[in-house]
Amino acid sequence: MSKFASLLALLAVVPSLAYAQSPVWGQCGGIGWTGSTTCVSGSVCTKQNDYYSQCIPSSSVPTSIPTSSPSAPTSPTSAPGSPTTSNPSAPSGTPSAGNPFVGYDIYLSPYYAAEVQAAASSISDATLKSKAASIANIPTFTWLDSVSKVPDLGTYLADADSIQKSTGKKQLVQIVVYDLPDRDCAAKASNGEFSIADGGQQKYYNYIDQIVAQIKQYPDVRVVAVIEPDSLANLVTNLNVQKCANAEATYKACVTYALQQLSSVGVYQYMDAGHAGWLGWPANIQPAATLFAQMFKSANSSPFIRGLATNVANYNALTAASPDPITQGNPNYDESHYINALGPMLASSGFPAQFIVDQGRAGQQNLRQQWGDWCNIKNAGFGTRPTTSTGNPLIDAIVWVKPGGESDGTSNSSSPRYDSTCSLPDATVPAPEAGTWFQTYFETLVSRANPPL
Ligand code: BGC
Repeated sequence: MSKFASLLALLAVVPSLAYAQSPVWGQCGGIGWTGSTTCVSGSVCTKQNDYYSQCIPSSSVPTSIPTSSPSAPTSPTSAPGSPTTSNPSAPSGTPSAGNPFVGYDIYLSPYYAAEVQAAASSISDATLKSKAASIANIPTFTWLDSVSKVPDLGTYLADADSIQKSTGKKQLVQIVVYDLPDRDCAAKASNGEFSIADGGQQKYYNYIDQIVAQIKQYPDVRVVAVIEPDSLANLVTNLNVQKCANAEATYKACVTYALQQLSSVGVYQYMDAGHAGWLGWPANIQPAATLFAQMFKSANSSPFIRGLATNVANYNALTAASPDPITQGNPNYDESHYINALGPMLASSGFPAQFIVDQGRAGQQNLRQQWGDWCNIKNAGFGTRPTTSTGNPLIDAIVWVKPGGESDGTSNSSSPRYDSTCSLPDATVPAPEAGTWFQTYFETLVSRANPPL
């Protein structure tokens, strides 16, 4: 299979019918879709996932796909700042004493670069267009949100390996492991492909095995993984939701399996730990620390379980200039306060955890009506760029985990994955399905980026 065959497959043209037309970036198909299945001229109906096909500007489709060059994603972005602490001659399977980001260039996801290039090519304002295009050089994480995405990881690792060999710059590939059975148990927007009732636990083990098999082939490329956004946090606060209570044992077994197997191939892992406005509340933080420490121990306290990721796909500041009024009552009103409170609790439970913090969409503050709102928040802007200069010894890196411009969830109330949070007054509507491209949202993130682009 050619290097980017799966990307090409993803962008395969869906046959069109002869009537009614959807606008550029509009929906044109998917499970539950009853509207138009053709696109206005100049755009192509393109399957994004089973739930969503979208009208992508045709001018951008062919040119946006990276070609066979092994170094297609050029200018890897360094996490600048600190000196190298890892031993460059040690095999990648040996845990370094320190921050896994230090001394590595972060590999740029060709998938996100293609999304961004397509988006930029359809912007007419020259200034906005060039700012938008610059986002393709900022590293985000690749979400392995279905088994069908796993082969992409093999492609990226091969590419990173060849960049490493040709440039001498060590490469780090960032992934999100995100395919638990009964996924997103307290919400609907990101329901996944596996169900517990239908052998999901075994299927999940198989998904992890496939990831591990890919990683094993490229021992020289470092991999950093965020483990299962929202899952353990839901077990801390949402066991009153039937689907979460039912999933508790399975989530724990699956996450333990992921931690153990990924540790065995030297993947540096950060379990997702929600955010300040979720587990940072005084009633939640100690139970959270207890659960994360248990999970660490259940995976034999591997040094590859480096710590926790916070604020994934969320909008909280790392350090708020002043508390957003919606945070009232929580002393941990931003991610720094949350991490500084949680870190010592973990350490005293036997888990000396370090942190990474998503700031991809946290550039603008005081946007939400309630702290729990999470869906396509209006007027958000891209935030602090990825860096290891975090100013906090507990924080390994500021990262962009959520690829900005991909939707958090659909506002279409007839979709099987409709979550009413996605049509609250502070959510941007109309919004496409979770994970698919949301052009107007991306343009807002660009124009409201802070620091500016
Ligand atoms: C979606 C995933 C997507 C991820 C990153 C999640 O909300 O459910 O499908 O890959 O966001 O955009």
